[in-house]
Amino acid sequence: MSSETAAKMNNWYRVGVEKDLGTPASPTENMVELTIDGLRVSVPTGTSIMRAAALGGTDIPRLCATEDLNAFGSCRLCLVEIEGRPGYPASCTTNVEPDMVVRTQTERVAKLRRNVMELYISDHPLDCLSCPSNGDCQLQDMAGAVGLRDVRYGYTGENHLTAEKDQSAPYFTFDPAKCIVCSRCVRACEEQQGTFALTVEGRGFDSKIVASQNDSFDQSECVSCGACVKACPTATLVEKSVIELGQPVTATITTCAYCGVGCSFRAEMQGDKLIRMVPDRNGQANHGHACVKGRFAFGYATHKDRITAPMIREKISDPWREVSWEAAFEFTAKRLKDIQKKYGRRSIGGITSSRCTNEEVYVVQKFVRAAMGNNNVDNCARVCHAPTGYGLKTTLGESAGTQAFDSVMQTDVIMVIGSNPTDAHPVFASLMKRRLRQGAGLIVIDPRATGLVDAPHLTANYHLPLRPGTNVAVINALAHVIIDEQLEDTAFIEQRCDMEAFAIWRAFISDAKYSPEAVEETTGVDANQLRRAARLFANAPNGAIYYGLGVTEHSQGSTMVMGIANLAMLTGNMGREGVGVNPMRGQNNVQGACDMGSFPHELPGYRHLSDEITRTMFEQDWGVKLDPEPGYRLPNMFDAAASGDFKGMYIQGEDVAQSDPDIQHVQAALGALECLIVQDLFLNETAKFAHVFLPGCSFLEKDGTFINAERRMSPVRKVMQPLSGMDEWEVTCALSTAMGYPMHYSHPSEIMDEIARLTPTFSGVSYALLDEMGSIQWPCNDEAPRGTTTMHVGEFVRGKGYFAPTPFVPTEERSNAKYPLLLTTGRILAQYNVGAQTRRTPNMAFHAEDVLEIHPSDAEVRGITDNSWVGIKSRAGETVLRALLSTRIQPGVVYTTFHHPESGANVVTTDNSDWATNCPEYKVTAVQAYPVTSPSQWQQSFSRLDKQQHELLP
Ligand code: SF4
Ligand code: SF4
Ligand code: SF4
Ligand code: FES
Repeated sequence: MSSETAAKMNNWYRVGVEKDLGTPASPTENMVELTIDGLRVSVPTGTSIMRAAALGGTDIPRLCATEDLNAFGSCRLCLVEIEGRPGYPASCTTNVEPDMVVRTQTERVAKLRRNVMELYISDHPLDCLSCPSNGDCQLQDMAGAVGLRDVRYGYTGENHLTAEKDQSAPYFTFDPAKCIVCSRCVRACEEQQGTFALTVEGRGFDSKIVASQNDSFDQSECVSCGACVKACPTATLVEKSVIELGQPVTATITTCAYCGVGCSFRAEMQGDKLIRMVPDRNGQANHGHACVKGRFAFGYATHKDRITAPMIREKISDPWREVSWEAAFEFTAKRLKDIQKKYGRRSIGGITSSRCTNEEVYVVQKFVRAAMGNNNVDNCARVCHAPTGYGLKTTLGESAGTQAFDSVMQTDVIMVIGSNPTDAHPVFASLMKRRLRQGAGLIVIDPRATGLVDAPHLTANYHLPLRPGTNVAVINALAHVIIDEQLEDTAFIEQRCDMEAFAIWRAFISDAKYSPEAVEETTGVDANQLRRAARLFANAPNGAIYYGLGVTEHSQGSTMVMGIANLAMLTGNMGREGVGVNPMRGQNNVQGACDMGSFPHELPGYRHLSDEITRTMFEQDWGVKLDPEPGYRLPNMFDAAASGDFKGMYIQGEDVAQSDPDIQHVQAALGALECLIVQDLFLNETAKFAHVFLPGCSFLEKDGTFINAERRMSPVRKVMQPLSGMDEWEVTCALSTAMGYPMHYSHPSEIMDEIARLTPTFSGVSYALLDEMGSIQWPCNDEAPRGTTTMHVGEFVRGKGYFAPTPFVPTEERSNAKYPLLLTTGRILAQYNVGAQTRRTPNMAFHAEDVLEIHPSDAEVRGITDNSWVGIKSRAGETVLRALLSTRIQPGVVYTTFHHPESGANVVTTDNSDWATNCPEYKVTAVQAYPVTSPSQWQQSFSRLDKQQHELLP
């Protein structure tokens, strides 16, 4: 690639100020023609005059309007004249009509606007030069735009100058002295976020914005999504980073590296310093919205804990030695080759990272297959959504979600199973809540009353609080009712599904043992409620199912996914907008990591290794013979390591020593390796067992792509150079080269070109197309050159939809006299997964430790009080957490998160796993809970190891 092209690539997404057209776009395609200031303009019906004028190049002055929110019409600054109409209507709340003649800049409206501005300015502090929003203040801009020269009322209005600034929120401040009460913040919190934390209190000059019941922000219901901050046209709500560092000067479009929603952001910079992340209005997954993680929690990227130089050591009790990249590659390659010489080709392997880009993942799996010469490659999907791959591929023929997020806006009844979107997929949860506030029905199937069950202005029609481990019994009972009451969509089934399989399944599901009444005792779900929920779903014109790890992380995870697909087919809810089966993928790029072939049995694009044509294609392109035998799955690697058959691992961006179940077993396995290479940002728990540490890059230091839960590939753009001096894909390539299989690319776009060349699902993808479209949903190929929004339209990928029988087999992990409670785990909004990133940000203010939620009745009989220390013991291990008494959780069930390594939640989880994919059964662990006064033995040894390993750092 020429240096000019490289320079162009580096500036690929340098963008200007985000254009705001004042009011939202109209969804219709019917056009209207009108005249604005003498120019003919053609816009969709339902467009406001303000937006139509902006599209034609004229920005009408405004304060209370923004494209992200519905027009409100309170500031009266946007007045216009319309021929044949009396008065001066507000252009934000008046829609266009055919042949309307509008004048936006007459002398009369100019005067009226100046009058309005005079009132605002008379009630506003005049400290523009030292104001943090100087240069980014719409009040200031509007004063200029309307030609304000005099303020006849003076500058001493009721401007609340003495009102105290609220600095309690970690990431932004609220300065009421600067508020013009435009209520954009209130509307953003309601319409975009759905939290309803803000209100306007009082009237006229006395009116003011308050959080919750006039609380400080940190004590209010605010979840720090930042929507109000983006919406605020003045310096009233402003990011602390802007106050500290000043206004950004450049912006680059990139994609959030936290969850599977894949929000698009403008990384706003001063040189190479990131000032703020602002959600991108054109982002097709998030439409300008964000959550606290993507919006604010980016400080980890420059945290002092970052390790930026390669390090090696002989033994894990030795001090680390910083070395050059070359020395690190030489040391590593020699070790791996020596191991292979001694123990065989298949004695080493690698783990790709679902936090890394597709391009990085692709080169890691290529490195394992081509340089290591085996297929010992896996990824964290093994411990989260592997059952989704298996279950959806079996029933529908494709192992990914069927819809775009926006599809939910066409749904009449939403069923959410084992997913907590308000915490784990917050931006999509806000969209879902918007649809629910419009009146869609909601069925929540979850052991715990998640945030969706009872949110502001919405309540679930049915919450089925099932006992952990009984998902399959519940999904079967729902299907049983639909067959029993003849509510199935016969036409859809006959036209789209395999009728032979359906007949077998129908006989299976009709068995009385699957009736709601028969399973009531096992599941704990009221049979009447279940019947009603089944009817609601079956009778909905459009019903959609969203599910999460509460479905997959079970011994019957794959069975449950098939049960979900069966239910969707049974009710005809596939192949159009508003319906479908939607796995809520956890990590930012777990979909992509799977798509890129991070599996021991599949090449990129989910093609089995045993397929000779595919294998030959890769062999020819890569110039190497591939091992036709599938490799180890992740848990098999640990088992083999613990028993001495597996000796070397390359782990990129995964912290298996915290995230995987039965930690003591994982630690024993890692400790038995002769060469563990960790490529990461920090000395994580896994790195404490490593012999080689290769510094990784944060998402801000990368070019590449992520694929989110809706199969959407979005660009990740480098906004600062890698702190380590090397791109992560370059490191993998250099290691491969040192191992004897040279890999060279000059830019990640070349890796994507190779992916497209070798993978039919991606054959139409290129960085140029991404640049043009912003994002692309796969498949993107000759049949779908602009990507695919909805899957299985007209026909399933496998041809006819397959109804798979789903017999309920209770998990072996059952409560008993010794372990009478069932522990289930989940996530919390402010922390992300193992917390390596979010724990290094002010998000710690929201969630400083993992706690054990326990029902007050279970606590009382055990003598456990709120906030006291409680021991939790399973057959795998024991840990100690603080108790949180909560009625969100049902009696007999306890709940915790696993964001802090010292909590040891995964010391307690067991090695039980899904029958088809080995996905661990994180969601069901039989435990006992009891009061304690000191940390567990494991926690004490954790502290010692942590201290020792930190002392060994250079
Ligand atoms: S805080 Fe900002 S957005 Fe909210 S009413 Fe005041 S000026 Fe408007
Ligand atoms: S940050 Fe988000 S949740 Fe908090 S008040 Fe603003 S819009 Fe509402
Ligand atoms: S964490 Fe998820 S919801 Fe939040 S900003 Fe990032 S991608 Fe969006
Ligand atoms: S922008 Fe139209 S009334 Fe405020």
